[in-house]
Amino acid sequence: MPWVHIGRAMWSDLGQRLRERLGAKRLLVPSVRRAGPAKIAVKRVAHTFRNEVVALKDVDIDVHHGEFVCLLGPSGCGKSTLLYALAGLMTPSGGHITVDGEEVSGPGPDRVLMFQEAALFPWQTVLQNCTFPLRARGLSRREADGRAREFIYLVQLSGFEDLLPHQLSGGMRMRVSLARALALDPSVLLMDEPFGALDAQTRSQMHELLQSIWMRDRKTVVFVTHNVREALVLGDRVIVMAGRPGRVLQDLEVRIPRPRDPDDEDIVALSRRIRDALGRAQAASSETPPPLAKEPRDETADPVPARIPDRSPPPVGAGL
Ligand SMILES: Nc1ncnc2c1ncn2[C@@H]1O[C@H](COP(=O)(O)OP(=O)(O)OP(=O)(O)O)[C@@H](O)[C@H]1O
Ligand SMILES: [Mg+2]
Repeated sequence: MPWVHIGRAMWSDLGQRLRERLGAKRLLVPSVRRAGPAKIAVKRVAHTFRNEVVALKDVDIDVHHGEFVCLLGPSGCGKSTLLYALAGLMTPSGGHITVDGEEVSGPGPDRVLMFQEAALFPWQTVLQNCTFPLRARGLSRREADGRAREFIYLVQLSGFEDLLPHQLSGGMRMRVSLARALALDPSVLLMDEPFGALDAQTRSQMHELLQSIWMRDRKTVVFVTHNVREALVLGDRVIVMAGRPGRVLQDLEVRIPRPRDPDDEDIVALSRRIRDALGRAQAASSETPPPLAKEPRDETADPVPARIPDRSPPPVGAGL
């Protein structure tokens, strides 16, 4: 009888949707504090600029060896300030940062920082750009050459060693920058929106590449982004921040198996949940609801809502 079939189809559809919902819930859970000493320990870090902007307030983050942690938040919430403090490029006005138990008091060879600009020497070839910092660290020409070529191969630029930066596309320049950073074998890789200037397709290729290299080496990475989907594709953990004052709203563990695809249904659904929860948290603390995020520039952009209210919103976790 047809109604029996309709009934069965309805239940099976409902069951499927329920399974999906429960499954998706388990893919993004609040991070549990791990046992053992943290590789990077950020304790009650605060920073106020001289113009009295409170860029960071009471930020507590532990990053363990081999974790890929994404700092996610809207423009101005203090992501770069925190990253520069980790790099030792600025001293926060309050709190402590340690890496491997040592207080960070300046830049060090254990930490390499990558920016949105590839920052290559225009007069040097791909190979020379990669060998230069290795030679500066005392490697022989042969050692530096071998190491640079290994990472040029890993970022799929073999055959382009003798080209100059202006002969490369933006994505290729960023791959050189990645090879140069990885060849230095830093203990911690710090990345400030490194793929922000790339088009969607190139960015997606960079995500694939970075994931495959990371799965090989399991470096400790702190990656700043305001792109929710990018954070979910790359991070073991996503630390959601809000601004004025810059603070941590939620520390989430991503349990989606790797390699991850930005168009994966779970990633799209979870990214919507993070954006909605951020939007709700912001709206709850603002008399007039903040403007919604503009339409993404491309299909993988998913930026977090742009404006942060001045009062503290409730934690985002409740809605996730
Ligand atoms: N050198 C500075 N002097 C004064 N204020 C600063 C300085 N650098 C940053 N700020 C302020 O500190 C706050 C945090 O800035 P920060 O650059 O860390 O934000 P962000 O989250 O990295 O933003 P974006 O996503 O736009 O890069 C902002 O309000 C910014 O205006
Ligand atoms: Mg920034």
